[in-house]
Amino acid sequence: MATIGQRKADHLALCAEEDVGFHGMTTLLECVHLVHDALPDMKLSDVDLSITLFGKKLRAPLIVASMTGGTDEAGRINRELASIAEERGYGFGLGSQRAMHLRPGVADSYRVRDVAPTALVLGNVGVVQARAMTTSEARVLVDEVGADALCVHLNPAMELIQPGGDRDFGHGLDTLRRLARDLGVPVVVKETGCGISPAVGRRLREVGIQHVDVSGAGGTSWVGVETRRAAAAGDRPAQALGDAFWDWGVPTGACVALLAPMGFETIVATGGIASGLDVARALALGASAAGLARPILRALMSSGGRAAAIGQLDAIEAELRAAMLLTGCRDLPALRRAPRVVTGSLASWVEQLSPPSPSLSGA
Ligand SMILES: Cc1cc2nc3c(=O)[nH]c(=O)nc-3n(C[C@H](O)[C@H](O)[C@H](O)COP(=O)(O)O)c2cc1C
Repeated sequence: MATIGQRKADHLALCAEEDVGFHGMTTLLECVHLVHDALPDMKLSDVDLSITLFGKKLRAPLIVASMTGGTDEAGRINRELASIAEERGYGFGLGSQRAMHLRPGVADSYRVRDVAPTALVLGNVGVVQARAMTTSEARVLVDEVGADALCVHLNPAMELIQPGGDRDFGHGLDTLRRLARDLGVPVVVKETGCGISPAVGRRLREVGIQHVDVSGAGGTSWVGVETRRAAAAGDRPAQALGDAFWDWGVPTGACVALLAPMGFETIVATGGIASGLDVARALALGASAAGLARPILRALMSSGGRAAAIGQLDAIEAELRAAMLLTGCRDLPALRRAPRVVTGSLASWVEQLSPPSPSLSGA
């Protein structure tokens, strides 16, 4: 069985170099059409992209989403990405802190506060690992890295493909209820690429969860990542299972649209965000901010390195700003209220998974 360190190294290499995107499924954000404003009546420089999340002011609604930690290479990547977030005014997510919980000696690979003293930093742990921890142990993970909030990730699909992965997902909701009540910092319930459905959203609201990162389908397929690992290890049954579920999940656009009316304080749209227009579309559906993982990792690991990652984020910001001018939106609250037309498959997902309206059900 691979060690956590080996698995993390495999994940970084596969995500940086191999095709581990969804094959046929997209985010469905392409079904969101923002409405052109031919008379914007403002300057491009009037557009204000800023937002306050978890008490931290961001210059733009962008988060470099949770990726790594636990090895020397992971530590270098965390510090590079966190320092970009600090310089640019974005949020930054650490990868799963399971490794540091098991081996406190690797905690340094998660420590980024010296290069990101003011940035929004999100801690990260899996719900299955959190279930086995006391609330104080989970709080230590937050405090050790100076995080502003803790992402608790849900990833049953990838675990099922991973040889030796978790198979018992019981008491997840109880764990989230306990952490939301007792942790003392905001808890963000986060998927890892298969999305959060409205039924799960309702259960989260019932136990007091205020913040979600939908990490929906259409970007990185974590089933795909584990399928490639299974193939490399010659594990044919795991590979066959993974091939069958490669495109499994709720598309990012559908997650955001369906969770938006539920009263969450924060909805982060992660999963397949590829452009500033995607960010604008997600915000118009009701997201508070957008997260990007693999696209930023790939840019950072390319020959262009840090400059390439910053260049990509620059392009996303420029596109978001243009989308806001062309919809006549001066700030993000205006974008979240902007008219939009939802077509195609996204309209079907929303229609078929929305609760029946009281007037239609005769109430
Ligand atoms: C290399 C890599 C490692 C990741 N590790 C974690 C993790 O430890 N915890 C977590 O919550 N999500 C993890 N993710 C998932 C991302 O945060 C994100 O939810 C997912 O990749 C979808 O976003 P994307 O399409 O922009 O990659 C990881 C993603 C990548 C690319």
